[in-house]
Amino acid sequence: MQLFTREQKECSYSSGISRQEALVLENATRDTGTNRFIYITAAIAALNGLLFGFDTGVISGALLYIDNSFGLTHLMQEIIVSPTLVGAIVGAAAGGRLADRLGRRRLMVAGACVFFVGSVVMAFAPNVPALVVGRLVVGFAIGVASMVGPLYNSEIAPPKIRGSLVSLNQLAVTSGILLAYLVNYVFKGPGGWRWMLGSGVVPAAALALGMLFMPESPRWLVENGRLDEARSVLSRTRSEDRIEEEIENIEETAQVEENDASTLLESWIRPALIVGVGLAVLQQVTGINTVIYYAPTIFKSTGFGASASLLATVGVGLVNVGATICAVLLVDRVGRRPLLLVGLTGMVLALGGLSAVFFLPGLSGVVGWAAVGSLMFYVGFFAIGMGPVFWLLISEIYPLQVRGSAMGVVTVANWAANLLVSLTFLTLINGGTFSGVEFGGIGQTGTFGLYAVLSLFSLLFVYWKVPETKGRSLEEIEADLRGGTSGKYADASGETAENAD
Ligand code: BGC
Repeated sequence: MQLFTREQKECSYSSGISRQEALVLENATRDTGTNRFIYITAAIAALNGLLFGFDTGVISGALLYIDNSFGLTHLMQEIIVSPTLVGAIVGAAAGGRLADRLGRRRLMVAGACVFFVGSVVMAFAPNVPALVVGRLVVGFAIGVASMVGPLYNSEIAPPKIRGSLVSLNQLAVTSGILLAYLVNYVFKGPGGWRWMLGSGVVPAAALALGMLFMPESPRWLVENGRLDEARSVLSRTRSEDRIEEEIENIEETAQVEENDASTLLESWIRPALIVGVGLAVLQQVTGINTVIYYAPTIFKSTGFGASASLLATVGVGLVNVGATICAVLLVDRVGRRPLLLVGLTGMVLALGGLSAVFFLPGLSGVVGWAAVGSLMFYVGFFAIGMGPVFWLLISEIYPLQVRGSAMGVVTVANWAANLLVSLTFLTLINGGTFSGVEFGGIGQTGTFGLYAVLSLFSLLFVYWKVPETKGRSLEEIEADLRGGTSGKYADASGETAENAD
């Protein structure tokens, strides 16, 4: 693409700008143009995150009214929340292979269509089993989306803006949750749950249509021998002098990646696997989705009406988006570890507060507001640290050679831990029956107290095990891992990180 004519260049040389400066200016202008195209493409692909967030948030409000329609026990509520997570585990596990076979773009379009169909099934469900089938179908689409969205964005992005593009996905997740909370508020009322769940067709159609006009990942094209198409995509996302170099890089990495899965079992990878799987599980067992899925139910239990509970939940969604924006702006400046450590400290305090709120007697008038306050703090601190930094770190700490399969394992672990928490939350609070034997629950105080203790454990895990990746190239991170400086394998105190700045 020729951005400057010869006359314009000559004119700029004669107007006092050196030839070299003019070339830098030309490259910068060309980069701005290509960056704009990449940002638009990445924003459309981030609709995958929006779908993931939308479904995560929409079930919370829908549950209030599904309960009226079908009369649900606690166990049945958990059974309605959970199939999506089972579907997501399968979708995340199958996502990598499907992405290789169909291509990233076609898989995203197919995933959006599956999501569309699942939303229609849920909207018209005549009974609980039909609803469960719809949730399973939608879950499969979300599992695929949670994997292929970041994968596509990281493949389409030039290295220097890869960090912000990966974080764009978490911003889309939280925006999807907020959108769902607003939809829940708009459609509140008996039977409104059908509209809430059915409105997922809108973002699904936007993703499917949007992706039809977007390019295939150049990396997938090269791997499938479609070099000319790859060149033509790269000509829209890279300046011309970088195209051939990039194609060669992709070809080289593609060769190294052949023995992907078996390398994952080698001992030098283990510290990174412990960090990734550890963070994936801890991100969930500290209870975030009990709040995201059940916030209106929690608010209602503190004495709010259905409408006020939904409005308070919109507030939770706003805090989630706001704090995620702060994290995205701060993460490259202050680093990953400080955000994780501050976020987890805040989570311990907020969860401790929430546990106490439900314990203190005679607070019935203010208990609702105290619960709202603690929940907001909790979600805010999650969104500053564990929310975005987990997804960012898992895209950074694995050597290219195993990145695909390692991210697959970690994503499945994240969804599985999510399922465990969602299946046990209400039962932990209220008790239940197992094989005909009744058992008591530990109440809200005990449950949130448990999440506070697990957050404290996470704080120690991050302190001892998680490396700082700020300012370090992926090659440096890989070298630390190969060097086997066991445990927290990079210098987390930041000395080397600062040198790299
Ligand atoms: C988590 C989701 C959660 C969301 C909340 C994400 O990082 O993986 O499970 O629902 O954050 O914002």
